[in-house]
Amino acid sequence: MKVAVLGAAGGIGQALALLLKLQLPAGAELSLYDIAPVTPGVAADVSHIPTAVKVEGFAGEDPTPALKDANIVLISAGVARKPGMDRSDLFNINAGIVRNLIEKVASTCPKACIGIITNPVNTTVAIAAEVLKKAGVYDKRKLFGVTTLDVLRSETFVSELKNLAVSRTIVPVVGGHSGVTILPLLSQVPYVQWNNEEIAPLTKRIQNAGTEVVEAKAGGGSATLSMAQAAARFALSLVKGLQGETVVECTYVEGCGKYARFFAQPVRLGKEGVDEILPIGELSDFEQKALEDMLPTLRADIELGEKFVNQ
Ligand SMILES: NC(=O)c1ccc[n+]([C@@H]2O[C@H](COP(=O)([O-])OP(=O)(O)OC[C@H]3O[C@@H](n4cnc5c(N)ncnc54)[C@H](O)[C@@H]3O)[C@@H](O)[C@H]2O)c1
Repeated sequence: MKVAVLGAAGGIGQALALLLKLQLPAGAELSLYDIAPVTPGVAADVSHIPTAVKVEGFAGEDPTPALKDANIVLISAGVARKPGMDRSDLFNINAGIVRNLIEKVASTCPKACIGIITNPVNTTVAIAAEVLKKAGVYDKRKLFGVTTLDVLRSETFVSELKNLAVSRTIVPVVGGHSGVTILPLLSQVPYVQWNNEEIAPLTKRIQNAGTEVVEAKAGGGSATLSMAQAAARFALSLVKGLQGETVVECTYVEGCGKYARFFAQPVRLGKEGVDEILPIGELSDFEQKALEDMLPTLRADIELGEKFVNQ
């Protein structure tokens, strides 16, 4: 099992490398790549931690050596938000970075599962899909937008508000990964009774939680540590799926297109990536309206990515 992290010298990348070095199964390989020259040093640093995971680091313009034989590729390369920016402001820089990296994935490890962390995820996943399609290697079972941080935040905030054990708090989050497209299905949290005054502000807090971190970091970037944990959780679930275990995560994938071409929802992971996209279940009136309201934004975000590659 080989996992490659592209953007490995960044705030997310370094913390993710640490978590994967600690948690990947024995015998796995971790391949770290970034344009930043420090990357082999990051690899040397984590390689001194005594776990049975082999680490290699690569810097420079060409990610090819890092991608050779990768089963999973996680992409956090790109720029992060500063105060006053929303995720769509990142498009101009990150779209090209994701396109170029995915071209290399397509030519070097076309059968790898790909997890896109780089924002705006609603759009960068569409870019990745179109690049893979052009290269003739697109398999929608193997491309994921990593939306796990929205799930982590929901689990944390709900358990705090309702005094629940956080380890047993399950909150599905559907839609996309920015603003109103993030929709936590609070009505589906087991054993919780809500009053109407709680739902709207909590939903809004979950949708804006990234901005909470951006503002608190005051120009120093966006979520990195919680995001690294989210990406590690998602990657470890992918590993389990590839190794034949049954595991379910909410993630942004191409499904039947009922709501939008790409949509985050619970997905059963398996040996080929997506095993089955699970239904989103029954929604409350509040959630149904929020779902309908988000769709124009989500579809426009996706179209932007498709056009970026095809025009
Ligand atoms: N999906 C999510 O929930 C989520 C959450 C937080 C942040 N993000 C996104 O993740 C991305 C990374 O955030 P960060 O805080 O780690 O940023 P960062 O600036 O700390 O790190 C980004 C890294 O990417 C590298 N990089 C830039 N261009 C590259 C290229 N062409 N090839 C390889 N590496 C390249 C940089 O050298 C840097 O080390 C941002 O786009 C951010 O918006 C996503």
